[in-house]
Amino acid sequence: MIARDNPAPLDGLAIGASLATLDAIAGYGGVADGALGWRDGVLAYVGPRSALPASAMAEAREVIDLGGGWITPGLVDCHTHLVFAGDRASEFEQRLKGTSYESIAKAGGGILSTVEATRAASEDELLAASLPRARALRDDGVTTLEIKSGYGLDLDNERKMLRAAHRIGGELGITVRTTFLGAHALPPEYVGRSDGYIDAVCDWLPRLHAEGLVDAVDAFCEGIGFTPAQTRRVFETARALGLPVKLHADQLSDLGGAALAAEFGGLSADHVEHTSSTGVRAMADNGTVAVLLPGAFHVLRETRLPPLDEFRAQDVPMAIATDCNPGTSPLQSLRLAMSLACTHFQLTPEEALRGATVNAARALGLQDRGVLRVGARADFVHWTISHPAELCYWLGGDLAAKVYANGTRLL
Ligand code: NIG
Ligand code: FE
Repeated sequence: MIARDNPAPLDGLAIGASLATLDAIAGYGGVADGALGWRDGVLAYVGPRSALPASAMAEAREVIDLGGGWITPGLVDCHTHLVFAGDRASEFEQRLKGTSYESIAKAGGGILSTVEATRAASEDELLAASLPRARALRDDGVTTLEIKSGYGLDLDNERKMLRAAHRIGGELGITVRTTFLGAHALPPEYVGRSDGYIDAVCDWLPRLHAEGLVDAVDAFCEGIGFTPAQTRRVFETARALGLPVKLHADQLSDLGGAALAAEFGGLSADHVEHTSSTGVRAMADNGTVAVLLPGAFHVLRETRLPPLDEFRAQDVPMAIATDCNPGTSPLQSLRLAMSLACTHFQLTPEEALRGATVNAARALGLQDRGVLRVGARADFVHWTISHPAELCYWLGGDLAAKVYANGTRLL
């Protein structure tokens, strides 16, 4: 529990709260009356206060008595499209009158209307529009945030989005991981030439990667997106660059997306409502995480549930993310996504917390976070709750009392 090889004083020590370490195959990993110590941005003590050496308490640079509540790992939102300009409230109204997401997309609205607004915005304007959404997530406990491109759909505008995403990390003190989603929709200038557009995407990817802007590669494999063959070409380009892939897979129909992502050793297959047993098996065999996006399920009033029992039976880790985007999931709270996962998908609150921490970190290929463990990054949240299930029970509310990333207090 304590790193005994380092006698230097702790930078910080939090006491007076319970810990949900999640540092076990199952369960919250609860520690009543716990203590959490950190040094140089890394956890150096995790365990009961009673086992803390007296010298650690006496010598710590700062001791914080929390006076109750729970500490969890910092939350990880592993799937968002939160950098965009404009909004799609009018599309929301259209859908409530019965028009489907797909027919709006086919008529040139949907993603393409956000592309138009995003192309028209400068990088600074994009940052200003997106920062409040990221701040809302952080202030509700998120310390690691994935952000996709995909509303630029040309080299300069995809670059602008990825740069804005990086700046969010610096502005808010959180980790931002960027995913290139050039293959999100067909831009108007390529109508009738989708293979030519995929050529362009495969040409931009190495350039953006060389600029340090890409951590992973994603595509929208769907009837209104790109075919499995086109997705495969994007993935082959990613593989040649050593970049991990993930996929918008089997959201509206089963095109075998989850199995395709798994075949490429994908970090995750996301949405997965229509994934078949073959897809689940492939994910299990390749360690691909199922990222559940209950916000989109809720907003689109979907009824087809992901194959949850099969994921459980095959030990496919399930993560939960907001999918924060202006169309299908204008959701700015990962806790609310956890709650929706419980209500719509019948996840237990423990599965939901695991899905927003340790399994979400895995969906980003990050092994240094998502649990409270000596040696992990000192990313953690102090919540004013008396049981971890409250994180899913309350819809909204101000529960995150303190948020730390890398040992630094952000909130
Ligand atoms: O994850 N399905 C594709 N992409 C997003 C929606 C993007 C949008 O509608 O702007 C999703 O649901
Ligand atoms: Fe998405």
